[in-house]
Amino acid sequence: MEKTAVIGAGIMGRGIALVYALHGWSVALHDTSGEALEQAKTLIGTDLTLLADEGLISAAECQATLDNITPTASLKEAVGDAGFITEAVPEQLALKWQIFSRIEAHAPATAIIASNTSTLPLSELSRQLAQPERMLITHFFNPAHLVPLVEIVRAENTPEETLTTLLNLLRRAGKTPVVLKKEVPGFIANRLQAAILREALHLVESGVASEQDIDLAVTAGPGFRWSVIGPLETADFGGLDTWQSVMKNLAPELDCTPTTPAVLKEMNRRGELGVKTGQGFYAYPDRQTIADKIRFRNLAFIRLLKQHRQE
Ligand SMILES: NC(=O)c1ccc[n+]([C@@H]2O[C@H](COP(=O)([O-])OP(=O)(O)OC[C@H]3O[C@@H](n4cnc5c(N)ncnc54)[C@H](O)[C@@H]3O)[C@@H](O)[C@H]2O)c1
Repeated sequence: MEKTAVIGAGIMGRGIALVYALHGWSVALHDTSGEALEQAKTLIGTDLTLLADEGLISAAECQATLDNITPTASLKEAVGDAGFITEAVPEQLALKWQIFSRIEAHAPATAIIASNTSTLPLSELSRQLAQPERMLITHFFNPAHLVPLVEIVRAENTPEETLTTLLNLLRRAGKTPVVLKKEVPGFIANRLQAAILREALHLVESGVASEQDIDLAVTAGPGFRWSVIGPLETADFGGLDTWQSVMKNLAPELDCTPTTPAVLKEMNRRGELGVKTGQGFYAYPDRQTIADKIRFRNLAFIRLLKQHRQE
């Protein structure tokens, strides 16, 4: 299988296209927006240049990757001869269903279909397919070309061969796949991220510390450790007797409100959506500031990635 297609050329789709193109696949990148396709090529070029500047790829690989990506406004053309198709359109079930039925109509009957959904259950996504067993979830993390993890959700009737093909494909693309044993909303990583964000928002609302200090308490503390050992191994090193006492004292104190945190709703109401509107918990006053911050962040991720690949 050497041809793949990615449907949706936004934040995630363009990163996923880069991943497969970099590792030798020919990638048809489809979007209904001509502007998104144009922008995707430019931003993929910027990401590749940084990888080359940091010595992760050669100038020749940079050019070959760009050459491997064919942007197209036609979904039919994109999936017509693809053995593997990744959907990365906005998180709306009806829209995704519409895309899947068009993929089924135009793609080879043997093609594996993957969704990059963050939250929608596989059983719902695949419900209208004639061959639901050929759909899986491959959940990448932004920026998809740098974060190694891809969470995989399979159905009970996913053939072992399909899963094996997918795992081989992701490993060949330099990714670290994790397969869930059963379907659960938010998979693994988003549940953990959401639990931490809920508590961080609770600390902001309670005036316990500044936004900067709350972030620093994670990046210089647990986050520093978690890039090497996860929370369960961290607990083993701390001692499970100690953690039992910590949980006994702290569990009743932690926020467990079963609704969207009020501070998040209020910021959304004010149009403070973060980077995309120039204001979130921090200010992003202009495009240059944002570009500089993304470059700084990606350089740090590249350092981590180099370390991850040596392990
Ligand atoms: N952004 C993240 O951090 C992130 C992380 C993991 C998973 N996801 C998931 O990935 C998916 C895509 O998210 P994103 O952040 O890339 O969104 P995005 O809005 O950046 O990109 C979506 C793209 O899909 C295109 N599109 C819309 N309708 C289309 C159609 N009918 N046919 C083809 N293209 C169409 C849009 O033009 C846009 O370019 C969502 O399911 C999201 O939940 C996002």
